[in-house]
Amino acid sequence: MAIAYDAEKRIFKLDTDHTSYLIGLTEEGYAGHIYYGAKLNHPCGYAALGISDAPVSPSVNARDKLNFMDGFFFEYPTWGTGDLRESALDVRTPDGFRGCELIYDSYSVVPGKKSIPGMPSTFAKRSDVMSDEEALRNIGVYSGKNAGFIAPEQEEKVETLELTLKDDVLGLKVILYYTVFPASDAVVRSAEIINGGSGPLTLEKAYSACIDMPNRNFERIVLEGSWARERRVDRAPVGRGIQGVRSLRGETSHNENNFLALVTPGTDEEKGEVYAMNFVYSGNFRAQAELSQHRSIRMTMGIEPETFSWRLESGESFRTPEAVLVYSDKGTGEMSRRFHDLYRNHLIRSPWLHADRPILVNNWEATYFNFDTEKLAALAKTARDTGIEMLVMDDGWFGVRNSDNCSLGDWYVNEEKLPGGLKPLVDRVNELGLKFGIWFEPEMISGDSDLYRAHPDWALRLPGRTPTQSREQYVLDYSRKEVRDAVYSQISAVLHSANIAYVKWDMNRPLSDLGSAELPPERAGELHHRFVLGVYDLQERLISEFPELLLENCSGGGGRFDPGMLYYSPQIWTSDDTDAIERLWIQEGTSYVYPVSTMGAHVSKAPNEQVGRMTDFMTRGNVALEGTFGYELDLTSMPEEERAMIPEQVRRYHRYHALIAEGDLYRGHSWDAKDPYQVWTVAAKDGSAALLTYVQVLGEANRRPRMVPFRGLLPDARYAVYEVGTPEEIRECGFGAEGSGIAGTAASKASFASNGCSFYGDELMQVGVSLPAMGDFRSRMLIAVRQ
Ligand code: GLA
Repeated sequence: MAIAYDAEKRIFKLDTDHTSYLIGLTEEGYAGHIYYGAKLNHPCGYAALGISDAPVSPSVNARDKLNFMDGFFFEYPTWGTGDLRESALDVRTPDGFRGCELIYDSYSVVPGKKSIPGMPSTFAKRSDVMSDEEALRNIGVYSGKNAGFIAPEQEEKVETLELTLKDDVLGLKVILYYTVFPASDAVVRSAEIINGGSGPLTLEKAYSACIDMPNRNFERIVLEGSWARERRVDRAPVGRGIQGVRSLRGETSHNENNFLALVTPGTDEEKGEVYAMNFVYSGNFRAQAELSQHRSIRMTMGIEPETFSWRLESGESFRTPEAVLVYSDKGTGEMSRRFHDLYRNHLIRSPWLHADRPILVNNWEATYFNFDTEKLAALAKTARDTGIEMLVMDDGWFGVRNSDNCSLGDWYVNEEKLPGGLKPLVDRVNELGLKFGIWFEPEMISGDSDLYRAHPDWALRLPGRTPTQSREQYVLDYSRKEVRDAVYSQISAVLHSANIAYVKWDMNRPLSDLGSAELPPERAGELHHRFVLGVYDLQERLISEFPELLLENCSGGGGRFDPGMLYYSPQIWTSDDTDAIERLWIQEGTSYVYPVSTMGAHVSKAPNEQVGRMTDFMTRGNVALEGTFGYELDLTSMPEEERAMIPEQVRRYHRYHALIAEGDLYRGHSWDAKDPYQVWTVAAKDGSAALLTYVQVLGEANRRPRMVPFRGLLPDARYAVYEVGTPEEIRECGFGAEGSGIAGTAASKASFASNGCSFYGDELMQVGVSLPAMGDFRSRMLIAVRQ
């Protein structure tokens, strides 16, 4: 049983396979946090710990109630009645008073987990969120080429604790939801706030989760960045006061991710304690830690209050998005693997989740806005000849769009570029044997568009002000159903007009001018959250009407990379920076939370468009293989010797993608000035194989070979190790006739000295393999296969 209640001691114990989370109720009925950490294997005996140790108990010593409130470890702290730290809930009455105090009412433990209407949420079983027929489509759809590396999806016994608290003065009820995912070692929290009183109430803040605990010299890890350099790992000591990250940009943002981890000093990829939170939401958020006067830490996650308020009429309720809590006592590596397992098994719904995704070529960096049917058809033909499987037509196919200054909102084909419309082009591409994909930016409207000329009030705007432009565009008011309907009907018509397999959903500016022509004044503060719900509504409609569609989310690169988006799309464009060396950091940071299978990664041209670097072509491919894999360059004009390597990259994808996408990721080394190389390993969950990628970022003179360890193998099993791309590997690990004909294109010149030799797992993990340094930007891949 994942959740137990000791009625005598009034303690709830939530257990995953490796962690425990304890909640206690005081005599007065306050819900307090006792413990979160490594699993406690004995029944609840913890009454004396924490909960009854508070300096003052209000019922005994009411004159010092504030001391109690301000130091107690609350599960869901409220503002206004004595806790003077950051609150999770702030409620305003019609008279303008703000204050709330939550007392235990009741609890229930329910099997599984309910979904949250209109919002993304984790699920217990696939059949909870899709029909049996749809759920079946998710299983076993890897092509035969990939067989052998994937463990079947496990069903976990998921349970949810519903803990109901109430405030009799306000007539308010709060249900705290805690869903326990035993095998993924995660606890997912959210709150429902119900106005059971007779008048309206306004929520000024409603977070999703809070953990109060003693400080242990924690350091905090966040993923920071900017456009084209998203999610760099940033670590700093937690000092006194409040520190954290937030977004005010109407999306998760390039600048911050909705992830926060607190780690004990000395934590690295393999050791140390980690408390991590991630938010199943795609808009403004606040993730923070407050180090209090008592040296306790309050870690919170929720919707950013600055752009949030929500009016609850009598009888109405508000449900917060979900916060995912992960604890690891094996460092940040184990933390990531827990997030990855949870998201692959309990969040991503797409039928493409376990499938070989078609290898695509996207025309953005190949042509930008300058293309027509003939150019795209030529690209598709070269793509076909090299083994690429899908052509994606990016920005510029609609309205009169020849640059980024017009036509967003006018989702009809520009027949000057595509004579006869979409169908003739798509048919030609399909006849070549390729699938076809297309780009939209559905939340946006250009000032120069038919849509804006007809409906200027459909753009977000503040009364009396001209809305602020970014990339010469405005944001549509997605809180309005008529606006969403109008955009959706255009998109749907386009998707019905031809055989379209893939959509890239982009969003190229943040929100500003948060004003809606429709919302009444008392609900004006709801606009931002209603916008996010509007995006979810449209993405839900899209994947319901086109269930086989492969949807890739995107926001000026990786500005909306979050678990909320993963509920709708199995992959997200990671960054507009396609430079393979910069991508080492970007993909490493992204992999802290998000599975490799979700990271859009393409091979692009050299010199690279963003940084001008000349990176080895095979390395560009090997880095993109740590993601969804595809191309974004002009195949028709690239150097012949590079084009000749594409079939080998295609083979690597088909041979190893299942292992990469479904396996356990181990980040081995992150490059720096002294050790300018990067290593990561992906190991099959059953220990049957592991693929190690080594990238030499800068060449090193007079450097003796490094011993580079594998990870995730079975210590006592024997493995044959091959350098990927050598004739031996292609012969022994290839996939039959289809793969064997391309041995000549193997790029690695110096092969691994012990190519094909066999070792025990413990040798490979503890001694490692000997790899000499190479020149700048060179890389190699080694595969260990169990014998
Ligand atoms: C964003 C995306 C790019 C491309 C352009 C098109 O920047 O991230 O991949 O689609 O928009 O305008």
